Amino acid sequence: MVTARVVDLRSDTVTKPNEAMRCAMAAAEVDDDVLGFDPTAQKLEMEVAKIMHKEAALFVPSGTMANLISVMVHCEVRGSEVVLGDNSHIHVYENGGISTIGGVHAKTVPNNINGTMDIEKIVKAIRGVDGEMYYPTTRLICLENTHGNCGGRCLSVEYTDKVGEVAKKYGIKLHIDGARIFNASVALGVPVHRLVQAADSVSVCLSKGLGAPVGSVIVGSTEFITKAKRLRKTLGGGMRQVGVLCAAAYVALRDNVHKLSDDHRRAKILAEGLQQMEYFSVDLNSVESNMVYFDIKENSKISADRLCEVLEERCVIAMPSSSTRVRLVLHYQISDSDVQFALTCIKEGVDQILTGGKNGKIVQNLINVVPVSTV
Ligand SMILES: Cc1ncc(COP(=O)(O)O)c(C=O)c1O
Repeated sequence: MVTARVVDLRSDTVTKPNEAMRCAMAAAEVDDDVLGFDPTAQKLEMEVAKIMHKEAALFVPSGTMANLISVMVHCEVRGSEVVLGDNSHIHVYENGGISTIGGVHAKTVPNNINGTMDIEKIVKAIRGVDGEMYYPTTRLICLENTHGNCGGRCLSVEYTDKVGEVAKKYGIKLHIDGARIFNASVALGVPVHRLVQAADSVSVCLSKGLGAPVGSVIVGSTEFITKAKRLRKTLGGGMRQVGVLCAAAYVALRDNVHKLSDDHRRAKILAEGLQQMEYFSVDLNSVESNMVYFDIKENSKISADRLCEVLEERCVIAMPSSSTRVRLVLHYQISDSDVQFALTCIKEGVDQILTGGKNGKIVQNLINVVPVSTV
């Protein structure tokens, strides 16, 4: 079968389950996981706990629920506050769930462009631990690694350990939103368990760079996970024969971690290609993992929306992150030739915009596709 290929760079959440995942799903041994008997869910949870060097783990439907549950467990006492980055996923993109559902007050600290928060500012933000009358009580610090809104930058183990020391000193907990913690581990060359050693809990997405269709896993102490399990049920995240999903996630974890370095290499190639184009600027140093943000220069007459429109006509899909900024995310279903194709389309798309659509040559990007059902 010959078809046009689609190069989907919107996110690493867009991957389709591959044949190995689909086979594992079909063959998964399952039982009722709310009752605690699904063997495939248990196998996945034990594996993630082992990899992260934590006592226990819990499969949940999404990263958002993983973070919400983690914050709510650490902040179970009313009047609790969490210190987190003003540009963090939890604060910006999770519907304010920690306050609307969790009743937890957010105390933001500015995120630096590399995703960190200054240690002194974290310390300054901690309050109420001595039982003062007027303040909420800080019970948790949240970090995000890699940091999505900061371009997929990685927090180092040294930085994470320092924040862990602060948490210990003030008797509070540390949670890491590790939606892309494996990307950070691979990019930094640090074992993932070492990277999260200082954390009391970590949420790990299997449906981002690792390519599973659904799911995140929370890790932490046995006591923490026991409470998390109860909250998962409260939030409607208890799923019955969930081994069908866990089977695909297990394949993702087994097969795809080593592919992340290729995603990072391709992100750099993409960034360098964009940097060479007259109308764009890219901070090459910020490309540490699988994300590329590029800015459209002022007075270029190109808007991010229009650029994404002309790219879509060429089957390259991207998302504007502002009127002058576009984000591209690499994942294991994007090849070297997809990256070259995307760069060609971006050049042509720019030409088309600048010539008022007259120069809209669209390359026929035909590839041979073997239908999944016949593989
Ligand atoms: C850093 C980060 N944390 C958490 C999430 C939430 O994950 P989900 O979309 O599975 O709820 C995302 C989603 O993109 C993310 O990028």
